[in-house]
Amino acid sequence: MNAYHIIAKKRDGRRLSEEEIEYIVLGYAQNKIPDYQISALTMAIYLNGMDFGETAALTRIMLDSGIRMNFEAVPGFKADKHSTGGVGDKVSLILAPMVAAAGVKVPMISGRGLGHSGGTLDKLEAIPGFRTNLSEDEFYRQIEEIGVSLIGQTERIAPADRKMYALRDATATVESIPLITASILSKKLAEGIDGLVLDVKTGKGAFMKTPERSRELAESLVKTAQLNGLPTRALITRMDEPLGFAVGNWLETKESIECLRGHGPEDLMRVTLALSAQMLLMAGVADSEQQAMQQLNRAIASGAALQKFCDIVERQGGDLTYIHHPERYPKSRFEYRIEAPRDGYINEINALDVGVAVVQLGGGRQVMEDQIDYKAGVMLHHKVGDFVAKGETLAVLYTDRQTVIEAVSASLAAAIRISEHAPNKDDLIVEMTGAES
Ligand code: URA
Repeated sequence: MNAYHIIAKKRDGRRLSEEEIEYIVLGYAQNKIPDYQISALTMAIYLNGMDFGETAALTRIMLDSGIRMNFEAVPGFKADKHSTGGVGDKVSLILAPMVAAAGVKVPMISGRGLGHSGGTLDKLEAIPGFRTNLSEDEFYRQIEEIGVSLIGQTERIAPADRKMYALRDATATVESIPLITASILSKKLAEGIDGLVLDVKTGKGAFMKTPERSRELAESLVKTAQLNGLPTRALITRMDEPLGFAVGNWLETKESIECLRGHGPEDLMRVTLALSAQMLLMAGVADSEQQAMQQLNRAIASGAALQKFCDIVERQGGDLTYIHHPERYPKSRFEYRIEAPRDGYINEINALDVGVAVVQLGGGRQVMEDQIDYKAGVMLHHKVGDFVAKGETLAVLYTDRQTVIEAVSASLAAAIRISEHAPNKDDLIVEMTGAES
């Protein structure tokens, strides 16, 4: 077997055997295969795809390049949620403590923001002192003691994925369904969980822009997870406008705290509750969706979910002052208000444009090495469908970068379209895959 022939086989649209995938992918993880050969292979996979069997084998091999955590000694059902990424998507910060307060263990391994889409780790690290790099021992102990922890991918979790993802990012091969599937699931399978709920985004601010492509990704993820023995359900949810009002790390953390206090925006809570309910159903702690919703609403109303969030922050070294008094958080040097140019209904708030604007304001990364200004971001004052009067505030920008304000405010103003007629609003939840399994 050699790498050249494996690459040529996929280039010619033929199926790779498990042994061939293992030879080249594990060889790469062990530094025996050079970057240029894996770049060629990932481009061949991007162009010619992989069937479910190949995708499941790739997932398993990437998983076995590292460790698999084992929570068998911790009683109770362990579940996680993963989103394919969006703008204003702070669901994990609300879901993890709420689901844990309802009795499901949540060992969550999250990612960082890149490009227009944000990441849970950055939002948590916006809380001064918060550590997302717990040791595996600390992670286990926290799951045992408080039932929930949120950390980043460790060195020992799917190292083949770490190497390949960095390469894909630089070689325009991220948007491939088998590669995304194997990348996400190798990390999720390594968590040693009993069930997984996926939030596959669709629309202007998502990886997959159409419901058809999103459905393809959802089916690939669910089927591949199940082939690897992990019960999984996926919801396809709309990501045309940002979720909630806040976009930018600290602004989103602050909005999540408001949600946990029971004052969350309707769209954000709809998606968060729908995903959380599936976790409770999979865990068997609720028998129906209605019962799951009641338990989750009780976790919020009783203060148990907020308390669980405070427990997470405290255990992971974060300063609770800002959770109890968000108004004490440092302020951006510049604030700029965008006004409605005329009366009318908001027809569009383009999530991709808002995400890009936040990166320019300092709140995101163009490349992984970029530093983030946690304070920077955009606070929307309206949602699609709202009526606004001329001169009303549409959004406020927060930044320390004076030089970008003019350009960013112009692109944001263009991203918010106002027209005479009220738009039709589609349900945020498009469909679900995998519940029958
Ligand atoms: N997120 C991942 O972890 N991997 C991908 O390939 C795409 C998104």
